[in-house]
Amino acid sequence: MTHSLEVQISSLKLKNPVITASGTFGYGLEYSQFIDLNLAGAITVKGLSLNPKQGNPPPRIYETPCGMINSIGLQNIGIDAFVVEKLPFLRKFDTKIIVNFFGENLDEYVEMASKLDATDGIHALEMNVSCPNKSSEWRKMGLEAELLRKAVKEVRAATLKPLIVKLSPQVTDITVMAKICEDEGADAVSLINTIPAMVIDIKSRKSIIGTTTGGLSGPAIRPVAVRMVFEVSRAVKIPVIGMGGIVTADDALQFLIAGARAIAIGTANFINPHATLQVVEGIKKFLFEENIKDINDLIGSFRD
Ligand SMILES: Cc1cc2nc3c(=O)[nH]c(=O)nc-3n(C[C@H](O)[C@H](O)[C@H](O)COP(=O)(O)O)c2cc1C
Repeated sequence: MTHSLEVQISSLKLKNPVITASGTFGYGLEYSQFIDLNLAGAITVKGLSLNPKQGNPPPRIYETPCGMINSIGLQNIGIDAFVVEKLPFLRKFDTKIIVNFFGENLDEYVEMASKLDATDGIHALEMNVSCPNKSSEWRKMGLEAELLRKAVKEVRAATLKPLIVKLSPQVTDITVMAKICEDEGADAVSLINTIPAMVIDIKSRKSIIGTTTGGLSGPAIRPVAVRMVFEVSRAVKIPVIGMGGIVTADDALQFLIAGARAIAIGTANFINPHATLQVVEGIKKFLFEENIKDINDLIGSFRD
């Protein structure tokens, strides 16, 4: 008996619901020596901007008891170099390519969206309005409802490709932000990005992170992410892509039951490069054991 793992995010058909999270999987190529990228539902590449960015000063990573704090600051090679140097290799794989992108201002977001729209081999766009390490005024885009509305509206007009908006957990009510994305024509929302956090070296009394604060990711944030995915899934009709601390298939299943149509693996990739594919296998095993023929029957099956 077959157990279908296929899910649909607007016009984007994924062979399974397991995606790699932006910023934790490089441009995909780095991991291709460890795992068969053909087996991932989709690959989300590192957040790209119009021009290359060096990111923040070090130290940029610190391991916490149950995750990590990072302040990479969206270091990337820029869209043009990505298209020439990385995309041709990625296109060889039978998986979907999602490009995570951002800009220093709304014009740059719109320009990025139209550039990505015109590029073959990119299957969906993930608009990052949620990085806690960005210092530009557009950092506020993920935090202020009316800025978000304007941004999603203009970016939507710039692309026909599936548009996913990646939400920040730093808001009082994340369902409000998700509804704005839905109203303005986003095809899906993804959540959550990292949560601002800090660690102090008690001898120097300085922060261990170069930019004083950074974004916390990994298992520590998982219960927060599950709660937010659950709330958002009930508030909007567009698909929700859930992430935050997923390490095992059991973690991923919580998100699917809470209502996520797909899930992404982030920090776990650093610990175990096989995590993404092990989660795919674990979900398959669960469907078989529970006699669930179609993963869509499991999605949103939370019992009150
Ligand atoms: C080192 C690092 C870099 C990241 N870079 C990006 C990025 O470029 N764009 C983005 O939208 N999210 C970025 N994220 C956030 C992740 O994609 C993900 O939303 C978050 O880490 C929560 O998932 P996790 O706990 O499984 O890592 C980054 C996270 C980490 C740890």
